[in-house]
Amino acid sequence: MAEFTLPKNSKIDNKNSKTFKADGKSKNVKVFEVYRYDPEDSEQKNPHIDRFEIDLDNCGPMVLDALIKMKSEQDSSLTFRRSCREGICGSCAMNIDGSNTLACTKSISECKSNTIKIYPLPHMPVVKDLVPDLTHFYEQYKSIKPWLQASEPINPQKERQQSPEEREKLDGLYECILCACCSTSCPSYWWNSEKYLGPAVLLQAQRWIADSRDEATAERLDALEDPFKLYRCHTIMNCTQTCPKGLNPAKAIGKIKQAIADRKA
Ligand code: SF4
Ligand code: SF4
Ligand code: FES
Repeated sequence: MAEFTLPKNSKIDNKNSKTFKADGKSKNVKVFEVYRYDPEDSEQKNPHIDRFEIDLDNCGPMVLDALIKMKSEQDSSLTFRRSCREGICGSCAMNIDGSNTLACTKSISECKSNTIKIYPLPHMPVVKDLVPDLTHFYEQYKSIKPWLQASEPINPQKERQQSPEEREKLDGLYECILCACCSTSCPSYWWNSEKYLGPAVLLQAQRWIADSRDEATAERLDALEDPFKLYRCHTIMNCTQTCPKGLNPAKAIGKIKQAIADRKA
């Protein structure tokens, strides 16, 4: 059986964990356990978990509201990304209550555990606390050339038209906000992320393959026909289960495989 050894500084060491108490008068308190890691803190080399007591009677309904409250009232050093607060920018993706999702669209009442655990997206290097390093993920995105490739140069006076049926083929693809929840829930991506593109990037690749205005379909399929980039997907379906936008990356990957098989037939 394969054995994996974790790097020393990846193990949780709670000897310096803190508890941030709610106001003594609070009647409706919820406890959040939040992953903390600061690679620049020379005294504390390992990550730890802090406990935050939040008075839900004085907090908005979403997990992001609780995080903002923790940061503004209890510990200003708590670090996380967020921007739009309405599930559009994808920046608040993290692991909440055991699943990858968006903190701004996940309501506190939806969480099943009494103590809500919040971790960064799994299997990614951590910049600080809940902020993963997405450099490699974005490099992989760039590698699929996520832009329209057409021989006719851009003419601002002329639209590149599509029929309603052609446009419909982009439904379920164009809505992706590149939050990385799917890729970081995929076991194949955990173990092979250096070479496997993962569900988010492959769904984006299919977004361009399916676009009737794009003329680089053959080159796009050539670039994906690779045992690692595409065929590490074993249809485990974690990606589809976790997508906070209700998309189906596994289906998009299936379509790419089908297109490659069809052109060989
Ligand atoms: S497919 Fe869904 S989970 Fe994956 S990056 Fe796009 S929006 Fe996020
Ligand atoms: S279906 Fe493919 S991409 Fe999705 S979780 Fe499974 S292996 Fe990963
Ligand atoms: S803050 Fe933009 S998706 Fe959550």
